[in-house]
Amino acid sequence: MILVTGGAGFIGANFVLDWLATQQEPVVNVDKLTYAGNVENLASVHGDARHVFVQADIGDSAVMDVLLARHQPRAVINFAAESHVDRSIHGPEDFIQTNVVGTFRLLEAVRGYWSRLQGNAKSDFRFLHVSTDEVYGTLSPSDPAFTEENNYEPNSPYSASKAASDHLVRAWHHTYGLPVLTTNCSNNYGPLHFPEKLIPLVIVNALAGKPLPVYGDGMQVRDWLYVRDHCSAIRRVLEAGKLGDTYNVGGWNEQANIDIVKTVCALLDELRPRADGKGYAEQITYVADRPGHDRRYAIDARKLERELGWKPAETFDTGIRKTVQWYLDHPQWVANVQSGAYRDWVQKQYTATAE
Ligand code: NAD
Ligand code: TYD
Repeated sequence: MILVTGGAGFIGANFVLDWLATQQEPVVNVDKLTYAGNVENLASVHGDARHVFVQADIGDSAVMDVLLARHQPRAVINFAAESHVDRSIHGPEDFIQTNVVGTFRLLEAVRGYWSRLQGNAKSDFRFLHVSTDEVYGTLSPSDPAFTEENNYEPNSPYSASKAASDHLVRAWHHTYGLPVLTTNCSNNYGPLHFPEKLIPLVIVNALAGKPLPVYGDGMQVRDWLYVRDHCSAIRRVLEAGKLGDTYNVGGWNEQANIDIVKTVCALLDELRPRADGKGYAEQITYVADRPGHDRRYAIDARKLERELGWKPAETFDTGIRKTVQWYLDHPQWVANVQSGAYRDWVQKQYTATAE
């Protein structure tokens, strides 16, 4: 049994679906179901006895204590977080509560559980913390990509809160000996991505005939990885990562935002042409830049490739085509997310309680 937090969100849900499709081992999925948590993402495993869903907050120590004692997981993988940079700028409080205080409380619950384990159960236990490359700050065009040796220089409330959580995880290893692993991944894209983030927002807005907002000059660079490749990296680090180590995860795919937007427009032109015969790129609209906007992120993933033999399965061309096609094939998922109807799924599908 493994315990996953945040498994109704974008990456967590992809991880749970991937896990249940490829492994026999059951998963307890603990998610608070914030606006970003969507149990409809897990519809295909509803009724699968290997998937236990619990609506709970990682910061609720009493509930986490009960869940750990009851399910006796051999590993905890912490995806739960507030994840959107723009939201963190407009309202940082939730980011501090979940990403910092929540991670702290989760670490304490896990430490209590782990300290009572014995023998192999204790030595084999792992706490894997899922983090981001944004903790390293911003790069100039000529800087080398981030390695695990880079200093932490977070610039947004989001990245600062994630950096704080990474430091807590590190300290719980050094001080208490908790067997931890941390992954720092670049920007993900793929199915189930909430349409507040660049790629799904562009797809959804394009199809709705709305403007495609590009911040500033659109020349900011992100390093994109298909979400299922992030999931395979996490599985590999869980399996073979060195205790206390951090692993950068990325697919060597740096692109300027404006190029990403144009690529998505070109795919939509091919797969779902506009009725008026014009291109979707006509909808591109330059808007005011994000305050404190990091100029460039880039991941050097050589440690993970060399030490653990991980490689991504998708190129950007194959991954972005699959992604655009997924959104075209799932208009109801998009409509439910946009109308808020996805939130009714909890009542319909699950008795959402920790007890
Ligand atoms: P997301 O916002 O789509 O999902 C987050 C999930 O966590 C949601 O289901 C939400 O309900 C849940 N959650 C939030 N607060 C919680 C709490 N207090 N207790 C329990 N559950 C809670 O985010 P995502 O994009 O899937 O990111 C998952 C993790 O991966 C985050 O830790 C994020 O920092 C990290 N990450 C994301 C990216 C990316 O590109 N999206 C890249 C690198 C790392
Ligand atoms: P985002 O998906 O929010 O991820 P992050 O900020 O964590 O990298 O944004 C990706 C890039 O796209 C980032 O440089 C901000 C930019 N962006 C836009 O230009 N327009 C948008 O509407 C959004 C949401 C993002």
